[in-house]
Amino acid sequence: MNAPIKKIVLPVAGLGTRFLPATKAIPKEMLPVLDKPLIQYAVEEALEAGIEDIILVTGRNKQVMEDHFDHAYELEKILQEKGKDDGLEVARSMLLEEGRISYVRQMRPLGLGHAIWCARKLVNGHPFAVALPDDLIKGRPGALKQMVEAYNELGGNMVASMNVSREDTSKYGVITPGEHTKNRIAVEGLVEKPHPEDAPSTQAVVGRYILQPEVMDHLSEKAVGAGGEIQLTDAMAKLIGKQPFHAIEFDGTRFDCGSKIGWLMANLSLAAEDPHMAHEIRQLITFR
Ligand code: UTP
Repeated sequence: MNAPIKKIVLPVAGLGTRFLPATKAIPKEMLPVLDKPLIQYAVEEALEAGIEDIILVTGRNKQVMEDHFDHAYELEKILQEKGKDDGLEVARSMLLEEGRISYVRQMRPLGLGHAIWCARKLVNGHPFAVALPDDLIKGRPGALKQMVEAYNELGGNMVASMNVSREDTSKYGVITPGEHTKNRIAVEGLVEKPHPEDAPSTQAVVGRYILQPEVMDHLSEKAVGAGGEIQLTDAMAKLIGKQPFHAIEFDGTRFDCGSKIGWLMANLSLAAEDPHMAHEIRQLITFR
């Protein structure tokens, strides 16, 4: 039987330069989509997938995320005194039992692979999930739950994947696909941000992963890859052929909320489904 996935690493130490000036003093992961910060969507998706331990890899100016997952005593007291029970419930909805959420600091933003490596002591030899909070995935069930279900059958390593246009392959990790059964694709190779003409396929990796702990051994080599960063893709590629490795074409829509247009589309898409907002938003924009 495959060891269950009980831990998730959420890297939140990036600089978010594509979203300046908003991200000068506010972490990208605290940008709201409608009324909820991106990091909360990721934590909720993890909990839905049965994950118990949440590990945030933070950096400078990211402390506000610790506050988000803690009591806000003043606010709670005022809401209580005013009898605003709904608000109080919302303010308390993300209070996990003490000890289930941990924070470790990436002292320099050397890349996604390096951020994951910073969590190695907390991962402590277990298989684990990773979610990039700026990739918001609308899915029922969530993408992580879909992946955990596939993992329970297949074991090994997994990435979430979706088909992109060839010119966009240079923005993603791209897989060399092997056998394709239902929504599961055997991964025979992985390359980070290839030039479109060199991309082995148009099947791109998006920000959800299930990884075996051996990936940490490869990350500890700290090899510098595409963009001068320590890339998770390069360490994952070294597991191919040694351990099962699949891409899961998840059922859902992914929004790149690290980009302005992706964030705006996520807001519009969620608003269009919200009974309190749908009418006005549909009047504003003609959805085809
Ligand atoms: P991005 O590739 O979006 O980089 O990171 P970024 O620095 O956050 O944003 P831009 O490109 O400058 O606008 C993907 C995920 O990996 C994390 C980010 O916080 C984000 O969740 N990350 C990235 C780290 O935790 N550390 C790093 O060194 C790099």
